[in-house]
Amino acid sequence: MIVYDQTTRTFFLHGKSFSCALWVHPAGYLVGLHFGGPIGGDDLRYFDPSARELSFSPIPPDVDSYFSLDVAGSEYGSFGQGDFRTPSVLLVRENGERASRFHYVSHTICDGAPDLGVLPSARGGKTLSITLKDVLSEAEIVLNYTLYEDSDVLVRNAEIVNRGSSPMRLLRAESFCLDLAAGEYDVLRLHGRHNMERMPERTPLGHGSVKIGSARGASSHQMNPFLVLLERGAGEDAGVCVGFELLYSGSWMLEAEETQTGAVRVSGGINDLGFSWLLGASEKFITPQVAICYSAHGLGEMSRSYADFLRGHVLPENRVYAPRPVLVNNWEATYFDFDREKLCALADEAAPLGIDTLVLDDGWFGGRNDDLTSLGDWFVNEKKLVGGLGPVIEHCKKRGMKFGIWFEPEMISEDSALYRAHPDWAIGRADVPRCKSRHQYVLDMTREEVTDYLFARMSDILSRHEISYVKWDMNRHITEFYSASLPAERQGEFAHRYILGVYRLIRRLQAAFPDVFFEGCSGGGGRFDGGMLCFFPQFWTSDDTDAYERAKIQWGTSYGYPLSAMSCHVSACPNHQTGRTVPFSARGAIASLGATGYELDLGRLSAEEKAQVKEQIANYHEIEQLILRGDLYRIADPYQGNLFCVAVMSKDKTRAYVVGMRIHALPGDFDRRIRLKGLRCEQTYTVEELGLTLRGDTLMNAGLLLPRLPDFGSWVWHLSAKKNS
Ligand code: DGJ
Repeated sequence: MIVYDQTTRTFFLHGKSFSCALWVHPAGYLVGLHFGGPIGGDDLRYFDPSARELSFSPIPPDVDSYFSLDVAGSEYGSFGQGDFRTPSVLLVRENGERASRFHYVSHTICDGAPDLGVLPSARGGKTLSITLKDVLSEAEIVLNYTLYEDSDVLVRNAEIVNRGSSPMRLLRAESFCLDLAAGEYDVLRLHGRHNMERMPERTPLGHGSVKIGSARGASSHQMNPFLVLLERGAGEDAGVCVGFELLYSGSWMLEAEETQTGAVRVSGGINDLGFSWLLGASEKFITPQVAICYSAHGLGEMSRSYADFLRGHVLPENRVYAPRPVLVNNWEATYFDFDREKLCALADEAAPLGIDTLVLDDGWFGGRNDDLTSLGDWFVNEKKLVGGLGPVIEHCKKRGMKFGIWFEPEMISEDSALYRAHPDWAIGRADVPRCKSRHQYVLDMTREEVTDYLFARMSDILSRHEISYVKWDMNRHITEFYSASLPAERQGEFAHRYILGVYRLIRRLQAAFPDVFFEGCSGGGGRFDGGMLCFFPQFWTSDDTDAYERAKIQWGTSYGYPLSAMSCHVSACPNHQTGRTVPFSARGAIASLGATGYELDLGRLSAEEKAQVKEQIANYHEIEQLILRGDLYRIADPYQGNLFCVAVMSKDKTRAYVVGMRIHALPGDFDRRIRLKGLRCEQTYTVEELGLTLRGDTLMNAGLLLPRLPDFGSWVWHLSAKKNS
């Protein structure tokens, strides 16, 4: 609910279990007075931020009290008027001036989300848009707050409009700024690297800033665009946490800044490193959205709120709850070494096991037999696949299977027909050597002729063949941020324009091929973010398919994203990334905690392993709706001890699926109890595998005994509520 109290000039935003109060100060400043647990509509002006005791806090010329922007809770930090914290916007005018003083002008309340153009945007809700005017320039800022009554997520973004006749330059344009009351806080972020994405790290905040981000032109493996501010004592199941998740896939930043008074400013959006944007007369700059989530009951509740929010308002509506393809991908089965016979043999093995889609990964186009060549040449390599894709697709169809294909649209190999024809289509100057990564360059997605070419090539492949699934990969980050098609004064716009070009192409392809299922990928989970999830209902979680490593990666990912967004495959052992051998059952159990699939040469499996695949797929179909819709409870943290355990619970709490792994077998470890979470206390549940029938409170407080397991051994428990109990 959004309420504006005209008497006190206060906006109240009430989500499911949080409230936010914004006050229009008599001089016009928009001041944040509360963000936290639910409140009514009381007059909160007793919080009027006074800097009486602080001699070094400047007083703006238009106030006659001790009000100072140095300590006021600001909704969009300004520069040069006494707010010395991180500013939200830096606007340079023709005379070089940068200071801004924003005053409230007007507001609207509308159903639905603001129109963000090509940027990803959360669906539904009700939006409060507050217009502020810069008293020192002709800039206007619109702050959008989208609220969902069924959610503890508040979505924000900002729009900056030049209402004057001369151009101005944006050097920073953040999506939001939120000032939280003084307290003791910790910061949690998800850092990582290729093959090791989204590792949680929690540290005390302390005075100064914790600033995270990516300047790689992609949201990145190295740091996820997600930050949680936790009150010092908060943990998995208790305490206040506030999450910040950007719905953006380009270079980004998030910052938590503890100030002189102990109050904390959290702000972020597009990374300002190298950024500038020329805003001509009447032009508007739209910033990406941030999803801010409040939880009074720890990280667990925050993650469940994010999962509900992303499923209900972000993941593609037509796909989010529909059964996902259970696929076999040929990458770890064959790498580049495949032909028609090998692919058909893989389909022959897959179909009787219950796998429904064969996905042909990298290497089917141009002359690509290794990663040195052919990106950009999206023509079927008929030398390698005699007769083209048709015979393989027909073969799959005969076995009742669908067919999917891999693209890496944004890339170009130096050794490609495309590069020979258009060397300037690669990012950077064509007349000087450029950095390569995985032997490839990145295409300049800001150029329409480039995205038109990609659309034409990809549509040609998709319209000529019965293809039900596309894997969209991206295997390097951006260097030489420069486009031959942009004028000098617009080169600072390159990184943002690049990702807008990517979004535009995805939108265009999805509109042209609405029946094709698109999965995202970026060398594993390098662009696993809320922006991509607006288009891709699932994302390849990591190139690391080792089940133990995956348990950790999936655990980290679950802080901000639903299980159904994680694509998880069973692969061969010794594992190709770590060399580790993990029991086949454990590989299946961990891969069942997401959109499941296989990525190995099925022909090399023993009869017993094949029987396990059949069982795993049957189990997956049984629990799929839990994975797609359920609530996740994290039970045993693999970063803290020898166990991994999570439970996925149906919303009505009548079914639960518990998966665990004991990392190392320890002698004498016979009284370790697994205490479940999220059940109904007085409800009686049957634990299928153990033949036990116990009350929810027994299962949660007394727990179950950890099974005896070898190294990396896993267990699963299916719980169902006994009727009439
Ligand atoms: C990186 C992806 O994450 C892998 O799954 C595979 O598609 C390779 N790229 C192919 O080059």
